[in-house]
Amino acid sequence: MKIGILDSGIGGLTVLKSLLRKCPDHEYIYYGDTIHLPYGEKSREEIIGYANNIINFFESENIDLIIIACGTLSSNKEFLKSKKRLIDIISPLKGKLDNYNKISIMATPLSIKTNAFKKYINTKIDLISCPKLVPIIESEDYSDLDNVLEKYLENSIDSDALILGCTHYPIVKDSIIKFFNKEIICLDKFVVEMLSELKPGKSSLKLYFSKIDEILIKNVKKILEIDNLNIERKWLK
Ligand code: DGL
Repeated sequence: MKIGILDSGIGGLTVLKSLLRKCPDHEYIYYGDTIHLPYGEKSREEIIGYANNIINFFESENIDLIIIACGTLSSNKEFLKSKKRLIDIISPLKGKLDNYNKISIMATPLSIKTNAFKKYINTKIDLISCPKLVPIIESEDYSDLDNVLEKYLENSIDSDALILGCTHYPIVKDSIIKFFNKEIICLDKFVVEMLSELKPGKSSLKLYFSKIDEILIKNVKKILEIDNLNIERKWLK
C-alpha cells in the first residue's frame, strides 16, 4: 500500500515511527508543513487550505490512503477533501474509553475549540489547551518545558488517564510523566491497530517538509531513530 502521512511538522513522525516498527511493509510518504506551523493557533479555513494542498500532492503521487497524523486537522476532518480513504487519529477513540471516570486531554487551541474529542468519548473530560508546546518542541528549546507542563497539568490529579491529543506531545512524554504519572494514551496506537489489518507489500520511505533547517533534520533523525535519511524540501503552491 502507498500511504501518505501529514502533519504541520515533526509531530506526525511519532505516528510514522510506530507504523515503521509495527507495519513496515508499506510505501510511506510523509509531509510536514513546517513553514505554516503551528496549525493549532491558526483558523480552520487556513489549515484546511494547507492540508488540502498536501492531500492533492499525495493524490498526484498515487497514494492508496492518507493518515491525518495531526490532532488539529483530525478534529476538522469533515472539511478535508480527498478521493482516497482518510484515516484520522481522533475518531478511533470512539467507545474505547467509556469505562474511565475522568480523562484529561492535552491538545492545541484549535482542537479544543472544535470540541471533537467530546464526540467520541462518553465520560467526564478535562480539556487542556496547550499553545506553548508545539513551538517548544519544534524549536528544541526545552528550557521552559517543565514550568509549562506543570501549569498545564496542575488540575489533572483526579483524572484516570491523560490523552496526548496532539502528535507532537509524545516527543516530550518523558517530561509529561513527571507531572502525570498515571496512564498516558498516545493516538498512534489506534492507527497502528487499523493498519495492522492491511495486506503488506513493498516498503519504502520518503520525507518531505515545506521548510528545512538543521534543527529539523536533527529532530527527524532523533524521533525516527534512523540516521541515514533523505529529507526533501517541497513547497506546495
Ligand atoms: N501535530 C499537530 C497536532 O497533532 C500540531 C498542530 C500544530 O501545529 O499546532 O495537532
